[in-house]
Amino acid sequence: MKPTVPLRVLAERLVCCTGAGLGVIESAFLDVEHGLITRLGPRNEAPAPPPTALELSAELVTPGLCDAHTHAAWAGSRHNEYALRMAGADYEAIAKSGGGIVSSMRAVRAISEEQLAEQLVARLKRMVALGVTTFEIKSGYGLDLASERKQLRAIRTAQARLPQLTLVPTFLGLHALPPEAAGDRDGYARTVAEESYPALSEEGLFRFVDAYLDRSAFSVAQARPLCERARKDGFGLRLHIGQFADVGGAEFAAELGALSVDHAEHISPSGLAALAAAGVRVGLLPVASFTLRGPTPAIEELRKHGLPLVVASDANPGTAPTESLPLALAFAVRNYGLSVTEAVRGATVEAALSLDLKNQGQLTVGARADLVLWDLPHEDALAQPFGLSKALTVIAGGEVVHSLYAASSG
Ligand code: NIG
Ligand code: FE
Repeated sequence: MKPTVPLRVLAERLVCCTGAGLGVIESAFLDVEHGLITRLGPRNEAPAPPPTALELSAELVTPGLCDAHTHAAWAGSRHNEYALRMAGADYEAIAKSGGGIVSSMRAVRAISEEQLAEQLVARLKRMVALGVTTFEIKSGYGLDLASERKQLRAIRTAQARLPQLTLVPTFLGLHALPPEAAGDRDGYARTVAEESYPALSEEGLFRFVDAYLDRSAFSVAQARPLCERARKDGFGLRLHIGQFADVGGAEFAAELGALSVDHAEHISPSGLAALAAAGVRVGLLPVASFTLRGPTPAIEELRKHGLPLVVASDANPGTAPTESLPLALAFAVRNYGLSVTEAVRGATVEAALSLDLKNQGQLTVGARADLVLWDLPHEDALAQPFGLSKALTVIAGGEVVHSLYAASSG
């Protein structure tokens, strides 16, 4: 590993995301060496920094944000469908007539793995500039073995080119039915479980498995072979459930011990109870429901069941045409009624835990040094800046990966 310069970070408000809230330390210091947080606390208790340390300071410092649900390895643009939808066309109807996810499939199939990797790297750099250092990235726009492999290999290439970031690849095996399946959902789901999944797993291309369980997507029965195989092999599950209709996805996720269920606009009371009993996290995707003019998940019910909430961008060219986790955080507060504490935890510690990353998403001694220095006066302001970046400096694995001043320095 490349040696990194030790850092001393000074913050008026250090948002650690520890305990049950935000764990704010006022007038704080934090030291970083070899990519890890070595010390932190009130500034008046700070020992002398290592002599070679680079000092950085900001009013507000948080953990690097963690986007636990993205489709960032996409290609193409669906602006034409967006215009149709804004004029009243229905998302599910567009998908049924060969658009939607299948239109992104055509774009992914049409370009090379290298082109896809380049587009992904460029996108991730823009996301880093918004304060994100950890990314879950799904396949699911390839829809055949070769093209799903292309997406997953592009993610692997992006990780090699951006080694400071944490990229977590997910095989979204059941997303939509490709045209060559000729309407045979059962047969397609079997092929994915019996052919694509083992081949991609053999190549070590993913950490999680996902399936889109909904009335216009896949049923629990269709998803069961893939998901059970994945669980047996030790992969965690993260499932798209209840975006348009409740088809039993919550009960299924609980039965298989999924790490998270995402969207969650439609979950029955028994589904909620099952999720709570199984300790499944709920991934909220407020940009998608905003774009679709869809309903809000039953936040009060989720709270009553004590379900940990994750907030993610869902970055994709159809339902969440954004790359911005801070925008999702702002919408989680504005449209879903989350408190700032819930939303910030949902985009940091809870998101990291949903990815089984116990050493990230929090500022503690020994944690990975992923940090954001913000041009904001207080943590409550994190929920406000719609559509612009307020990240001054972003540190991932102890290295400065984005700095507003970089262009003018020197
Ligand atoms: O999370 N719900 C399904 N999948 C994605 C993106 C769909 C799309 O590309 O339109 C989502 O919204
Ligand atoms: Fe999604």
